[in-house]
Amino acid sequence: MTRFPREFADLLTRRGRRMLEGGDVAAAGALQGGHFVALAGAVDAAKAQAARALLEARLAPLLKALAQGIPPESITGQTRNHQERLIKTVRVRTAYLERKRSRAWRAAERIGLVAMTGSDTWYRFAEMLAGRALDRRSGRQVLCYGPGDYAGPHTDHHPEDARARDGYVDMHLTLAGPGVAHQWLVYAEGGHFRHVRDVNTAGGITAYRLPFWHYTTPLVARPGREKAARRWVVLGTFRYAASAR
Ligand SMILES: [Fe+2]
Repeated sequence: MTRFPREFADLLTRRGRRMLEGGDVAAAGALQGGHFVALAGAVDAAKAQAARALLEARLAPLLKALAQGIPPESITGQTRNHQERLIKTVRVRTAYLERKRSRAWRAAERIGLVAMTGSDTWYRFAEMLAGRALDRRSGRQVLCYGPGDYAGPHTDHHPEDARARDGYVDMHLTLAGPGVAHQWLVYAEGGHFRHVRDVNTAGGITAYRLPFWHYTTPLVARPGREKAARRWVVLGTFRYAASAR
């Protein structure tokens, strides 16, 4: 594979296409009932492997480190018991794909990633999961988790953004390499961290109805496979259609 397919549908299995057309009851409108959904068997395994290899070859050199650690003042500046506050901590490498003149954007364009994440079927798949109309213009980002990379507990709430303050939807295409032993998504429901889901998938689709509390555990490599232990995430962000809010 030298390019991503023009349409997201061309990465999908027959089962994935049935989901896309709304014919899978577990997938259609899944985010109306919950904040998170993980779908297996929707993406063709061989194509997922080829897509990951393409990202490794063409996008890995252009990733930027994103690191926000635990501020020491969160302990040293604490004056009252049980009053600790934690910012959104994270360590991951990323390509934001926001500025069209950036090197990462141009590389993503050359391998067809920009086109696929702007395709009708990428958008329609997210809309099918959301179960409500989404804004056709989506944001996009690529994340690459290596050993020890994680995201601490956070909500992804954006109350200062008028178009996102009432919530929005993220859809992830996960392309994990064989060197990854495990990585988990932990998320809250009913006021407690309750759910633990495996996100170490080679061609998995997950979707999030934000905001809600969640975190991603540090990626752990298989022994001796640290260099190849990478989990790629192609992320689409979708606001709700103006008329549907
Ligand atoms: Fe998040």
